[in-house]
Amino acid sequence: MATIVETKLKQERLLRIIEDELQDLPPLPAVVMRVMQTINDPTTSASDLNRLIAGDQALASKVLRLVNSSYYGFPRRISTITHAVVILGFNTVRNLTTSLGVFNAFDAQGRQTALDRDGFWAHSLASATAAGVIARRKGIVAKSIEEVFVGGLLHDIGKLFLDQYFPDQYAITLKLARAAKISVWDAEKTALGVGHALVGKRVAEKWNLPPSLTSMITLHHQPAFAKDHFEITAVVHAADRVARKVGLGNGGDELVPPLAPEVQQWLNLPPAVWESIEAETCQKFDDGKEFLKVAQGG
Ligand SMILES: [Fe+2]
Ligand SMILES: [Fe+2]
Repeated sequence: MATIVETKLKQERLLRIIEDELQDLPPLPAVVMRVMQTINDPTTSASDLNRLIAGDQALASKVLRLVNSSYYGFPRRISTITHAVVILGFNTVRNLTTSLGVFNAFDAQGRQTALDRDGFWAHSLASATAAGVIARRKGIVAKSIEEVFVGGLLHDIGKLFLDQYFPDQYAITLKLARAAKISVWDAEKTALGVGHALVGKRVAEKWNLPPSLTSMITLHHQPAFAKDHFEITAVVHAADRVARKVGLGNGGDELVPPLAPEVQQWLNLPPAVWESIEAETCQKFDDGKEFLKVAQGG
C-alpha cells in the first residue's frame, strides 16, 4: 500500500514539473505561427503566404528544398514560394511550414537521449505516408488528405517533449516498455503518470496548433473520443498501426496494437486492401527519406 501511495506522490510531483516545463516551452517562430493562423482566414491569398514565408530566408529555403525533393518529384525546379503555392497548393505549403517549425523546435539541442531520433522520425514519416494512402483509399476530401499527412508526422510529438525535457525519466520509461513488453504509451502512464498523447495535447495547445491537428495528436490512441475530427484521427490511428506492422522506423516499442473497433468498423476494409495499403506505404516511404533529411536540416 505504501508503495502505491509513494508512487502516486512521485507521479504528482513529476506532473507538476512537466506542467512547469510545458509553460516554459519556447514558442514556435512567429512566422510559423502567422502561417498557421492563415488557416482561419479565408481572405489570405497565395501572395500573402509568399510574403510571410519569404520574409524568413532560412525557412523559405527549406520549404523550397522540400518541394524540390524527390518526394514530390517535379521534373522542373520550383524556385519561388509563389511558384510552390501554384504547383502544390496553399494547404501543402502551409502544412510543410508547420511541420518544419515543429521539427526544428525539437531538434535544436542535438544531444544524445534515450529515444532513437532517427527511428522516431522514420516512424513518423511512415505513419504520415500510410495516413495519406489510407485517406486516399477511403476517398476522403483532399484537404483532409493534407491534414492526415501532417497528423501522421506529428502525432507522437509528446514523446519528443518528454525525451528532450525529461531524458532520465524517459530513459527509464523506454526501458520499462522493453522489459515488460508493453507499449510506450502504457509505460509512460505507469512510470510518469501521463502518456505522450496528453503531453502532445498540451504542446499543441501551447503552440496554437489547429484543432484538427490537436485532435490527431491527442487522440491517436483513443480515436473513439474524437468527436469533431473522428475521421482524420481514425486515419492517423490506423496509419500508426500500419507503420508498426511493416516495421518502418521505431517509436520506442515494437508492438503492433489492435485496430480500435470503431476505426475497424468505419474503415471496413478487407484484408487484401490492407495488404496493398502496406505495400504502397513501403513504396512511398523511400521517396519520403529525402523529405526527412531536408526537414531535419541535413
Ligand atoms: Fe503514440
Ligand atoms: Fe506512433
